[in-house]
Amino acid sequence: MKIAIIGGGGREHAILRAVRRHPGISRVYMLPGNAGMAGEAEITGISATDLPAISDFCQENAIDYCIVSPDDPLVMGCVDLLEEKGIPCFGPNRNAAILEGSKVFAKAFMARHHIPTAACQTFTELDAALSYAASCDLPIVVKADGLALGKGVVIAFTRAEAEDAVRNAMERHAFGKSGEALVMEEYLTGPEVSVLAFTDGKTVVPMVSSMDHKRAKDGDQGLNTGGMGTIAPNPYYTDAVAQQCMETIFLPTIRGMAEEGRPFRGCLYFGLMLTPNGPRVIEYNCRFGDPETQVVLPLLQSDLLDIMRACTDGTLSPSMVRFSQDSACCVILASSGYPTHYEKGFPISIPEDVLPYVYVAGAADREGTLVTSGGRVLGVTATAPELKDAIALAYARADRVRFEGAFCRRDIGQRALRAGKET
Ligand code: AMP
Ligand code: GLY
Repeated sequence: MKIAIIGGGGREHAILRAVRRHPGISRVYMLPGNAGMAGEAEITGISATDLPAISDFCQENAIDYCIVSPDDPLVMGCVDLLEEKGIPCFGPNRNAAILEGSKVFAKAFMARHHIPTAACQTFTELDAALSYAASCDLPIVVKADGLALGKGVVIAFTRAEAEDAVRNAMERHAFGKSGEALVMEEYLTGPEVSVLAFTDGKTVVPMVSSMDHKRAKDGDQGLNTGGMGTIAPNPYYTDAVAQQCMETIFLPTIRGMAEEGRPFRGCLYFGLMLTPNGPRVIEYNCRFGDPETQVVLPLLQSDLLDIMRACTDGTLSPSMVRFSQDSACCVILASSGYPTHYEKGFPISIPEDVLPYVYVAGAADREGTLVTSGGRVLGVTATAPELKDAIALAYARADRVRFEGAFCRRDIGQRALRAGKET
């Protein structure tokens, strides 16, 4: 069987490793992939947003199944295009991917289906948004409607910050079309939990929960990043919370999308906040999380490709999805200066015995040497029966990976360890 995976980061590396465990895989092609995956798949370099090139490649190479991983191609309709050509895919079609593609849609959808989320107002006119910013309660959370590379959310603690966030999106067009509409919502507090769930449009099967660490520096200081590390499971996500989320959030979401003629098939990411008033949806993503996937998939005991194909076929059942009881930790090694300015092109050295635990995100090949080519360069993972041991092992491995300017947060998982002691 020939598989294509769209995407080229650490998340896709984790998906690749898990898919390759399926018996009967003859070839896996990455579009684009990166040089850090070269020993495990064919790296095509085809851009994840070049839909015509993706479609041509999949047809010419007689791809049997395509996994569309990142948000951009999903929201652009990559799955629709490939399915028209007869290539079955993992991932939502364009109609369903709108759950991530438009925050205005997502908020109105949650209101229609009574799914708990922050109270909000939506704006399409600058003046109305500015006058709301001048009078609303603070802090206020300002969100660009569309995809904005993770930069479209501003938590404004002052009127000036709120006004600036509005002007940035609607007047200065910092996010292009994504900022033509805005959601301004209530500021919530509480621990955050990421729950990825498999769904075939009718049945929803949550994976093990996880916790991201989005700020660049220890103690949740510094700028927001794409994620500096993750742990799983998330200790705040108790069985009671999980049951509440299933009843009030997961099932109503899957049913609501089906009812509206947008059945969601693929991986749905619930970004949740456990507020004093109960779990609330902070965001939906129409895909696996990065770097959540790097801790979730190493704990998956069942065959990922079988589950994915059941999501596509509409035959998913909870018994197909089994997770280990262990814990996992992923530490991201980033280039000095990330998430703002950083240099590229430094040689990366990874000891042979650490390689199987490394998921490469930003690396390129320079005359046979693996060199850095991005801000988040790679993630180093470990699993162990106890979270503290998974954390220690992930850091022990990370400390043996070298490139000039490498840095990581030293406190990935510490909040989770403290939470475990509180309960
Ligand atoms: P996002 O870019 O949508 O992942 O949001 C980035 C981060 O902003 C989230 O992980 C939360 O920490 C924070 N956030 C988003 N919405 C809210 C909210 N309503 N209240 C408090 N924090 C929020
Ligand atoms: N880790 C956050 C995300 O994938 O959106």
